[in-house]
Amino acid sequence: MNSIFFQQNSKVIEMNTQMISTPIRVGKKEAPNRIVFQPMECNDADATGDPSDLSLNRYRRFAEGGAGIIFTESLTITSESRARKSQLSITEQNAKGLERLINEMRKINGESLILFQLNQSGRLSEAAFSKVISVYPTKDPDIHVLTEEEIDQIGDNFVNAAVIAKQVGADGIDFKHCHGYVCTEMIQPANTRNDRYGGSFENRTRFFRETTRKMKDAVDDDSFLLGVRFNAYDGVPGGFGAAGPEEVIEDLSEPIAFSKMIEEAGMDYINVSAGIAGSEITQPSKKYPVGIYRLFGWAQAVKKAVNIPVIGSGYSSLRDGKNDLPEPDPAKKDFLYWAEKNLRDGNVDLVGVGRQSLADPLFPKKLLAGEFDSINYCTICDRCLTLMIAQQVVGCAIHDKHYRDLYRSIKNKTKNQ
Ligand SMILES: Cc1cc2nc3c(=O)[nH]c(=O)nc-3n(C[C@H](O)[C@H](O)[C@H](O)COP(=O)(O)O)c2cc1C
Repeated sequence: MNSIFFQQNSKVIEMNTQMISTPIRVGKKEAPNRIVFQPMECNDADATGDPSDLSLNRYRRFAEGGAGIIFTESLTITSESRARKSQLSITEQNAKGLERLINEMRKINGESLILFQLNQSGRLSEAAFSKVISVYPTKDPDIHVLTEEEIDQIGDNFVNAAVIAKQVGADGIDFKHCHGYVCTEMIQPANTRNDRYGGSFENRTRFFRETTRKMKDAVDDDSFLLGVRFNAYDGVPGGFGAAGPEEVIEDLSEPIAFSKMIEEAGMDYINVSAGIAGSEITQPSKKYPVGIYRLFGWAQAVKKAVNIPVIGSGYSSLRDGKNDLPEPDPAKKDFLYWAEKNLRDGNVDLVGVGRQSLADPLFPKKLLAGEFDSINYCTICDRCLTLMIAQQVVGCAIHDKHYRDLYRSIKNKTKNQ
């Protein structure tokens, strides 16, 4: 379906799905369309880190929605590197559970690419149930700074996790380098370690290069997709996308150099994000709608630098055009307009939604069929984020009764305290 006409305020509007419905090659595989379901942590694993019924149901619905690529949420590569209490895990003990997850999804949809996001939460691990560690010294003397040997061990854990992902039937993995977790810290200019993993850009990216090479050797299958989600701009002093340990002004020299390095390392895609977990740079809020323009720009800058597919982030905030973007033409405000435009203009190869996937798991299917009226749009209330920060199970507290009730009960509890 390429052009769809519908009426809005007595005007006939043409909606085009030409670009978004076109399949795209990613490495040696093909994504059936250009919509990506971004990783969304939902904190609903069982006590062993396996997918619970709640997780399985969520991913079944995602499979039904038919996005070209479906990322799993951030899977922890060890039980002591969790940011969420009930984070899904990817260790040998969880292989059966993850295999079931993949099988359940494939029963519904054999076309979408399913990629596992692999993560070590580092400094964002939660002390109540994990070990808080850091790549470089912080102001908090209680945070353990990793030794070189410990960094090597983390590399081996990533490699193990990639092998498990392959064994259980995932199409590939995402080597997470965004939002402040351990691999973000590694590449930040603030990482001034004076050993082989810190200081120069070459040293700060060594962990990435060496671990990628080990993953490739261990997986030994060039059709298994490897990619990276990284922040073009962390938005913190000494963060990635700034020019030095004391700098914060945006400078894309290193993010561009890193993009080229990812391509040279033989990876299959780049997923561009920004900001530290929970920040408005990561997910444009109601108060900060123009955040999406910045995410467009960062994806475009990466896209210009490489020839592998580039995924853009933050598209949920566009909704059906009901947003506060400073755009006078109402026809130029919605998700579909910007997805088509950015794909057509070559600013990006695939467009990613996070919060929208929770608001309506069937979003891609409905959009591609032109069933706009039946889409439950994300309202950008960020209740999903509130649930996540409160260590509750996460879902859409507007469109899904289960999470709506949960959200209310948490609010009532805090009110009564
Ligand atoms: C509740 C919640 C959980 C998230 N979990 C992850 C995650 O596991 N991995 C990740 O890379 N990003 C995660 N993100 C960021 C999203 O993938 C996405 O980049 C962000 O929500 C902006 O996109 P959107 O505007 O389409 O929602 C999460 C965001 C939210 C709100």
